[in-house]
Order: sequence, then structure tokens, then C-alpha cells
Amino acid sequence: MDRTDPLAHFRERFCFPKTKNGENCIYLCGHSLGLQPKTASASLEQELKDWAEFGVEGHFHARNPWLRYHRLLTQQTALLVGAEPSEAVVMNSLTVNLHLMMASFYRPTKQRHKIVVERGAFPSDQYAVKSQICFHGFNPESSLLELRPRDGESSMRDEDVESLIDREGGSVALIMLGGVNYATGQAFDMEGITKAGQKKGCRVGFDLAHAAGNLPLRLHQWGPDFAVWCSYKYLNGGPGCVAGCFVHQRHACAWDLPRFAGWWGHDEARRFEMGPDFHPMMGAEGWQLSNPPILALAPLRASLDIFAEAGMNRLRAKSVSLTGYMEFLLRQQPSSEFSLITPSEPERRGAQLSIRIRRNGRTLCNQLAMAGIIGDWREPDTLRVSAVPLYNSYRDVYRFAKQFFPALEPE
Ligand SMILES: Cc1ncc(COP(=O)(O)O)c(C=O)c1O
Repeated sequence: MDRTDPLAHFRERFCFPKTKNGENCIYLCGHSLGLQPKTASASLEQELKDWAEFGVEGHFHARNPWLRYHRLLTQQTALLVGAEPSEAVVMNSLTVNLHLMMASFYRPTKQRHKIVVERGAFPSDQYAVKSQICFHGFNPESSLLELRPRDGESSMRDEDVESLIDREGGSVALIMLGGVNYATGQAFDMEGITKAGQKKGCRVGFDLAHAAGNLPLRLHQWGPDFAVWCSYKYLNGGPGCVAGCFVHQRHACAWDLPRFAGWWGHDEARRFEMGPDFHPMMGAEGWQLSNPPILALAPLRASLDIFAEAGMNRLRAKSVSLTGYMEFLLRQQPSSEFSLITPSEPERRGAQLSIRIRRNGRTLCNQLAMAGIIGDWREPDTLRVSAVPLYNSYRDVYRFAKQFFPALEPE
């Protein structure tokens, strides 16, 4: 499979952490922090060099003038999430963008004040939505609606999500779900959820931290009001890299929509007139606050170039195959010591498999790490591993499975 894989050579473009013997680790942790593209340092050094050479004039005279630098990332970002360029912007960090979006799209009233989230959403999302509910004077006890799997099941059924929206939709102000759940790896039917929510008059937003660069996305077509994501997981932008934000075109000129303003969201033709009144730019750029951190955007640019070359559809085809192979191998030796909690259907998951370990899972994860296999552990009982199509091989997956079984506790 590796020999016939048309994307196999992309692996050479990444820096791999090494084992004690100096060999490449088997890196299965792209759902947490993607690997560094080898071109990232040149991209970053260019900006350091231009800063040294030009000082403040770099805003205009750097090879890539900083004043418009973030736009160099717009086209490719939009392509990755299936947006029009005017709907996408790279800015801030994920949780900040989530708050900015909720400032505009969570407008609770007495009749319609609830936010729908998935139970077990990433803690930052839970804190963000609860704090927004409180900020507006409501109580999470009555305003937070959690989607949960049925008893004895680990993932949510599409029909249960839709029936909850149908039942409760009239009191829901915002549906805010992860495109892919960080713990279980379940991918949601974003199109179906958007349609169901909008039929009931709800606003719909997605946290795509685990979906961007992992699944092909069609945000413009699916039509959620907003989406936010980070760039350090599958997008390989580097630790704490600048995040992304999508605002649907129908809000591009929604000047009456309340928003938190900053000068980088102000009409750029008038930005340097330094006037006191805020006139937002059209589209997603109108939600920007600050001038962006160029040194953090530079590595992300390098990574987006690789994505453009590889193509999301080809990456997804390989991803389905790689993750399917991992599941196949894990199912070869059934044991009561572990179970897969990620859905089996390819359309209900991305690259990640979440494996529930019955006993001493953290020790197992550490043992794998000592053998040069990097996954990660999420309390209380889950090992997460992702075969990432840009830099993982079928051989990586095979070697992981070979180490996994002996590391389990004996039955
Ligand atoms: C699903 C999800 N939401 C939010 C966050 C928080 O991101 P940040 O620290 O970039 O705001 C993460 C981080 O891993 C995440 O996985």
C-alpha cells in the first residue's frame, strides 16, 4: 500500500520526533499537534529577516508586506473549509473566536435562550458557552442542552440529534457542536444539523478544531452561521498557531449584528485615518480585532502550501483507507481489555480512533511512547491515535498495532 500510495512522498516534508536510537517516532498525534513542515522555518526566517532589515517599514516593504500578510492565507483556508474567500479569515485563537462569534450569534431571549452542545465537548467550549449564558443573565442549568449518546453507546445517533432539535428547537438560540468530537472522534452530520436547526429558527455554529484539515468541508453550501477552528492540529501550523473563523456570506453586510470591534476589523480604506467610529469590513474580516501575529502565520502558510499541493480529496481518500486499516488490525485480536468507541462508518469519523482501555491505559500509553509510538491519553480511559494521511504510512499503522496488543493487560 505504501509503495502505491500517491501521497507517500509528502511524509518527507515533515520533521519527525526521534526515538533514543535516532529513528523517526511513529507519530499518531496529529489530532493534538501536527508535525512541523520542513518549509516552516524558511517561511518564518523570511519574516525575521525582513523585520531585521526593514523594522516598521516591513509592513509595506517586506517581501510579503505584513499589512496584507493574513490575506496570503485566505484563499487556501477558504478552500480547505469549503468557504468563499470573503467568508474565511485567519485570526486570534480558537476560544477567542468562539466568544467573538457568540457575541454576534448568541442573542438569547426569554423564549429562545438555550445552547445545544454535545456532552463531553472540549472543556474550553463548555466553559465558553456556559460563560456566555451567564453573561446574558441566564442559567446553564436551564439554558444548556446537552446531546448525549444512548445508554451503553459511545457516540450520538444522527436521528437522536435531529429529534432533539425538532423537540426543543423553539427554545434554542444556538446549536454549537464540534464537527468531530475530540474524545470519541465521531464526525457529525453538519449539513443535516444545520438544516434541522435552521428549520427551527436556531443559529448554528461549529467548532472544527478536529475537522479542519481532516475532513473535506463545505461550509458555504451547508450554511451554518459560523465556524471556528485552530490550526495546530491537522493543519500543522505550530503550537498555539493563529486560528480560523468562518462567517456565512449572508451575514457579510449585517451591520446591525452586534459584534465586538477592533481596528483590524474596521474598513481598511479608512483604517489609518484613525477615526473614532467603527465601520466593519464586509465578510468575515469584519470580525478581526488586532493586527495579526506574522511570526505565527508564517509556518501556517508553509503548511497550507502543502495542503494545496496534496489536495483535500486525495488526503481524505488516503485517510479513510489508513484509518480503516488501523481498525481492521485492531479487530484482528478482540479482547475485553479494549474497545473502539469511534464509529466504524468512514462518513462518521475522521482520521482519529479512540480506544477505550479497560485497565491501566495510561501505563499502556507510556509504554507505547517508550517504544517510539506517540498517541495520547484522555482521562479517564481513552487512548487516541490518528493516522494522518500527509505524514503517516501504512507501515506506521502496522507497527502501532504490533506494539499495541502486547502492551495490553493480560485478559
Ligand atoms: C475541540 C476543541 N475546542 C477548543 C480547543 C481550545 O483551543 P484554544 O486553546 O486554541 O482556544 C481545543 C484544543 O485542543 C479543542 O480541541
